[in-house]
Amino acid sequence: MDGNGRWAKNRNLPRTNGHLEGLKRAKEIAKAAADMGIKYLTLYVFSTENWKRTQQEVGFLMGLIHTHLRQELKFYKENNIRVRLLGDITGLPSDIQTDITAAQNDTRVFNGLTLSLAINYGGRDEIVRAVKKIVDSGCKSDAINDAFISEKMDIPELPDADLLIRTGGEKRLSNFLMWHAAYAELVFTDTLWPDYFEKEFIINIEEFQKRSRRFGAVPV
Ligand code: IPE
Ligand code: MG
Repeated sequence: MDGNGRWAKNRNLPRTNGHLEGLKRAKEIAKAAADMGIKYLTLYVFSTENWKRTQQEVGFLMGLIHTHLRQELKFYKENNIRVRLLGDITGLPSDIQTDITAAQNDTRVFNGLTLSLAINYGGRDEIVRAVKKIVDSGCKSDAINDAFISEKMDIPELPDADLLIRTGGEKRLSNFLMWHAAYAELVFTDTLWPDYFEKEFIINIEEFQKRSRRFGAVPV
């Protein structure tokens, strides 16, 4: 979800207004995904690198995450959405840790869409933490394969990503889902996140459906 700051700047508004508008789109896209029957949607909310932003912006984003998680149980219930955290919870402020734990517990029975919120998330950081878990478990190297490593990631049952959409014009992954996106189809759009509506989401999914996915094989 990239482009909140530029969206606000284009309107001579503070960056924080872009984040407020971006949150509205995040909810709309999550609802659209749930309505379509998509089982997993992962939103890149706050990266391990985003701490480099000003204290004011980081504080605003944490506040937004806090109020959202506190107030949106009704939204998740209505749309049958289960919330999961992707990222290092130990590096988050304690109130956010409490909010995340509560949101995960309160939504655990909802079985439509699993909405993974990547907060304090870095793809490499997730892999580093998985490797630590593996080493600490004292397992033998023979036991290690793809499936074994997947199980040590933040959300063990999170499947490989099929489609990765980046808004805001940059054409890079920025440390997102380094493990799960190995064979993801990539879509890059110049649309700034607060301007990314359901209509474009559907267009991007239709584009994905036209892609020929061979996973390295030769088509027969
Ligand atoms: C993405 O928008 C939102 C978050 C990282 C939370 P940006 O804040 O990166 O917006 P730009 O890239 O400055 O426009
Ligand atoms: Mg950005």
